[in-house]
Amino acid sequence: MRIAVLAGGATPERAVAFAGAAQIVAALRGRGHTVHVVDTTQGLLSQVEEGRLLGGGTVGSEPTEVGELAERERAMLSNGLADLPAVREADVLFLSVHGGSGEGGTLQAVLDVIGVPYTGSGPLGSALAMDKDLAKRLFRAAGVPVPAWFMTPVAPEDVTTALGWPVIVKPSRGGSTIGLTLVKNAKGLDQAVTLAARYDDDVMVEQFIPGREVTVGVLGDVPLPVGEIIPKHELFDYECKYTPGMSEEVFPARLDTTLTRQLQELALTAHRALKLGGYSRVDFRLSPEGDIFCLEANTLPGMTRTSLLPQAARAAGIDFPDLCERICRLARNRGAEGAARGG
Ligand SMILES: Nc1ncnc2c1ncn2[C@@H]1O[C@H](COP(=O)(O)OP(=O)(O)O)[C@@H](O)[C@H]1O
Ligand SMILES: [Mg+2]
Repeated sequence: MRIAVLAGGATPERAVAFAGAAQIVAALRGRGHTVHVVDTTQGLLSQVEEGRLLGGGTVGSEPTEVGELAERERAMLSNGLADLPAVREADVLFLSVHGGSGEGGTLQAVLDVIGVPYTGSGPLGSALAMDKDLAKRLFRAAGVPVPAWFMTPVAPEDVTTALGWPVIVKPSRGGSTIGLTLVKNAKGLDQAVTLAARYDDDVMVEQFIPGREVTVGVLGDVPLPVGEIIPKHELFDYECKYTPGMSEEVFPARLDTTLTRQLQELALTAHRALKLGGYSRVDFRLSPEGDIFCLEANTLPGMTRTSLLPQAARAAGIDFPDLCERICRLARNRGAEGAARGG
């Protein structure tokens, strides 16, 4: 296949996106595919730029400063991208971007207009999954349990009555735990809301669920083995997510069969509730009482070899290059179905 990996993006998760791209590119080239790399903020990368940006495929411990990248990405999406032969002539575009327009559906809408198949979900599913408030309403309607929440503004007394303390305060459309705070009492609420509001106008105040954290990948319409995440910090924060050794991940999670099946079924229900496509990863908390709460669905989950979805795939006997190829095939088949329908 001719594949263009669309990487980077103008978001704090830019470094994460390049780290994933480095490994996706190596895996797909290793399988004999023709692979180009396109930075969504600057176009086709030369071999030298590829070497510099993709580097060793590691992520620093701090998110990227976005600065003027956003402006350049806007220019690329509004015309540059469609003019690139590497994009137009690709059989599949492999998306390795996180957050921002790439995860929120804007990039997907542009690619639909260009008419080249791309991996993962379409504009609608991407936008819904990105918006934790809307996603949780749809999960709840589909019977997937979620933690109780308010959107700001909310009075501290209402939090005390309806949610209790502690709470999690986070931007509704965020990622990588950026702008998220665990707030132990009413005194800390304002400051946490101000921080989250730096990343999104919509801020969520959510019931804190103590207990265990698990994640379920969905590939095509099959849930993968459940994984458990045991971070070194209290929360699965940016540093724990991207620094090797800062969290322990267990695949398959040590859970009884009933709970495992239940989680896999809920992940698939969540994936369908948001009309996601291709693949996704759904995150849950398990309370000490044994209740399940869905936190979110990730439409472009991390794709370094040590990321959670690749680990889940490996537990199902699917190695990393195989996973990358399957994700491409799912995209191509969907593209072909779309074309057959005339859309
Ligand atoms: N309601 C909650 N209760 C307990 N922990 C939470 C809650 N919400 C978020 N967290 C912690 O913060 C992490 C990131 O939150 P999440 O909602 O998945 O947002 P992001 O899009 O940033 O990954 C979770 O993996 C979990 O460790
Ligand atoms: Mg998450």
